[in-house]
Amino acid sequence: MSNPLLQYVADAATTLLSSGRIASLKSSLLAARDETLNDVELWQSGHPVPTEKQPLDAGFIQWPEELLQDAADNREKSLVARMEVCGARLRDAADSIVVLGIGGSYMGMRAMFDALRSPFHNEQSRRTRGGVPRIYFEGWNVDSDQQQILLNLLDQRAVDSPGSLDGRTALIVISKSGGTLESAVAFRTFRALVEKRFGAEAKNLIVPVTGDSGRLRNLSNAAGYSDVFSIPDGIGGRFSILTPVGLLPAAAAGMNIRALLQGAAEMTHHFRTAPFETNIVLQYVAVGHAFEMDQGMTQRILSTWGSKLEAVGLWYDQLLAESLGKHERGATPLTVVNTRDLHSRGQQHQEGRRDKLITNLLPGTPQSQPVTVPNHQLDHDQLNQLAGVTLPRILQAAIDGTNKAYADERRPTADLVLPTINEHSLGQLFQMLMLATVVEGRLVGTNPYGQPGVEAYKKNMQANLGIR
Ligand code: PA5
Repeated sequence: MSNPLLQYVADAATTLLSSGRIASLKSSLLAARDETLNDVELWQSGHPVPTEKQPLDAGFIQWPEELLQDAADNREKSLVARMEVCGARLRDAADSIVVLGIGGSYMGMRAMFDALRSPFHNEQSRRTRGGVPRIYFEGWNVDSDQQQILLNLLDQRAVDSPGSLDGRTALIVISKSGGTLESAVAFRTFRALVEKRFGAEAKNLIVPVTGDSGRLRNLSNAAGYSDVFSIPDGIGGRFSILTPVGLLPAAAAGMNIRALLQGAAEMTHHFRTAPFETNIVLQYVAVGHAFEMDQGMTQRILSTWGSKLEAVGLWYDQLLAESLGKHERGATPLTVVNTRDLHSRGQQHQEGRRDKLITNLLPGTPQSQPVTVPNHQLDHDQLNQLAGVTLPRILQAAIDGTNKAYADERRPTADLVLPTINEHSLGQLFQMLMLATVVEGRLVGTNPYGQPGVEAYKKNMQANLGIR
């Protein structure tokens, strides 16, 4: 393995637990790992799944390895190659792509886009974007103003640049069930725009990603779109980031989807083989569990140091909340971005209730040339003492200063350290957090798969609208 694994460093937290507490969890965590891995075999065997294990969506665990193997065996016919070809086709067909989806069919691509593309991507020229279209997200809410403004923007572009790439819009619509109202309604409105402006070309500009049955599948078959991708059985929405749900839009955005899969496959290998003491997934779960059980720390703060990682945190908020927030149990996740939120939530983290475990998500080496504080002859702000100092150096001072302030108050912090932000490290991180969520569920006896509680609002909403 040529790429370094991300690191999990929890010493500052574990000194606040009773001595030997993490070691005492070894056998139960190894059992939870075995159960998590045995579930893969159970699922693959095709044998009936016992009622208490239903639903069982363990397919995400070995999926990255399977997909890479398929790519090696079947080359241009493999799923990876087909997604790459379709992504390249969409890049050449349109300069705006709208990704439609909600929940697990939205948050993964959003996380990758914010982490791996410029925060000003859509404002840059196509040349500066490296030929990657502008990317927009819709269908993750029911916000009329927001949708109308985007529809108007795309329509105006089509009117202003008829026949040119700049005016053309493509859609990737993602829904596993194919019946989620928010994304289905958004698909109708955006599809109407694409059909109106591009006529018969719409068949090539719309790419659905959906399950093997359902309303979106039926519609796709009837419409005859040139590409349709399947979401595999046995992989639930919030565990589907490395299926076509995340990988097709990632490929269209010019990301290296093989590196994402490689990072994830390496994390699964580590999870399977590393001993408890050095196993990143098991140690991460052990620390969260021990603080929750022993000290009532039910708030899990993911403290991201840089706005590029905020959407990764929001993806994780969904993963943890929807997987373990059941039976009146489950820790509450919360993502913050520092140093921004040190000026808001920081007060509460320092002096509020002692119910918070803080995990820093550290971005590693910056991607671009570091900004340096310039010298100035008007030194009334007294910043010449920092002249020549880089922003990464200032950020490090903030990280160290914050950790020390929390440690001085016996507030637990741990660090998740990425080598840098790229496809490989993100693939590792996504897989690590998905595995950790499942292991924690198995440890406490909560089925991490499924989200029965989400159905209640859907039923009421549909009844209020008089639809089935
Ligand atoms: O994790 C999940 O399964 C959910 O968050 C779903 O992803 C979300 O409800 C969207 O569902 P669908 O992809 O069927 O539209």
